[in-house]
Amino acid sequence: MEEVRNQQVIFKDYVNGFPKESDMPLKTSTTISLKLPQGSNGVLVKNLYLSCDPYMRGRMSKTQGSYFEPFTPGSPITGLGVAKVVDSGHSNFKKGDLVWGGTGWEQYTIITTPQTLFKIQDTDVPLSYYTGILGMPGMTAYYGFYEICAPKKGEYVFVSSASGAVGQLVGQFAKLTGCYVVGTAGTNEKVELLKNKFGYDEAFNYKEEQDLDAALKRYFPEGIDIYFENVGGKMLEAVLLNMRVNGRISACGMISQYNLNQEEGVRNLSSIIMKRLHIKGFIVSDHFNLLPKYMEMVIPLIKERKICYIEDIVEGLESAPAALVGLFSGKNVGKQVVVVARE
Ligand SMILES: NC(=O)c1ccc[n+]([C@@H]2O[C@H](COP(=O)([O-])OP(=O)(O)OC[C@H]3O[C@@H](n4cnc5c(N)ncnc54)[C@H](OP(=O)(O)O)[C@@H]3O)[C@@H](O)[C@H]2O)c1
Repeated sequence: MEEVRNQQVIFKDYVNGFPKESDMPLKTSTTISLKLPQGSNGVLVKNLYLSCDPYMRGRMSKTQGSYFEPFTPGSPITGLGVAKVVDSGHSNFKKGDLVWGGTGWEQYTIITTPQTLFKIQDTDVPLSYYTGILGMPGMTAYYGFYEICAPKKGEYVFVSSASGAVGQLVGQFAKLTGCYVVGTAGTNEKVELLKNKFGYDEAFNYKEEQDLDAALKRYFPEGIDIYFENVGGKMLEAVLLNMRVNGRISACGMISQYNLNQEEGVRNLSSIIMKRLHIKGFIVSDHFNLLPKYMEMVIPLIKERKICYIEDIVEGLESAPAALVGLFSGKNVGKQVVVVARE
């Protein structure tokens, strides 16, 4: 029975404040059999692409909590990825199938809940896209924008963390709908991408603005109809002051708060009443039943080059900890992906 070395990224222990590379050491000593144990109904996969996602920070805290359970100290980090089936005890999967879903930060993983995996049907597109535009972040942009905000042509849309895995898509969906869309990001390079690559009408670097309220008034003299919320904190406070009556806010993420021991307050919540705002939070995995509908919409858009997707790709499991940590200082330009193996 063939055995191979299985390099792994281990979750050392619960984290306080910003995560560091040293919280995720590399372990090279374990081996794994490339055959599942007799009677297993799991799936053994070879991991190809791993996804770095902000929600993973919540899983590094024991108490702060996430919508998923905390990581287990001493065990490999778990997250979403694209993988190839090496051996299967589950009737839905066979050797050679390509899948995306929950896997481990290691070369090979035995997935004991294969019913949560999605089989990859369309391989005419880069496989890594199943960590991004064709995976969880894509569905997030789709659900959060179309289903929650019900956008209409001509409406004024604002997107924070606008060049990231989710934000770059929200901006493009807004343009396809005929909206006026402004994005914000944390570097001038990203601001250029927003305007020149993703088609945002305007963009600004929030780190260079002394007064976020004044910046929003500059770009939205008539106010904002739709805010796609990715960052929270001071940005949300400034946005509330600039929303129009009957505006909609898709509460997708609040990354500015994930590493704080105590979340910042938002001081102008009464705007929600005065302006009759609709604010709705969501967790994308509750809506994966809409994945086929989304794929039907987005795959032709990719193939006809009506939508583009930027990835920030690093090579090797050893690069994964720095890549994940980098999300919290804005190091990634586009969707952060880690290549473990290309086939
Ligand atoms: N509700 C759901 O089901 C769901 C699903 C997926 C993602 N999300 C959320 O959606 C948001 C975007 O996720 P993503 O995968 O697309 O990540 P991303 O935008 O690709 O990467 C994270 C970005 O956040 C920005 N950032 C980091 N710290 C910040 C801070 N203190 N203030 C403002 N911006 C900060 C950085 O960009 P800058 O250079 O612009 O600062 C960084 O590049 C996150 O909040 C995430 O938790 C929610």
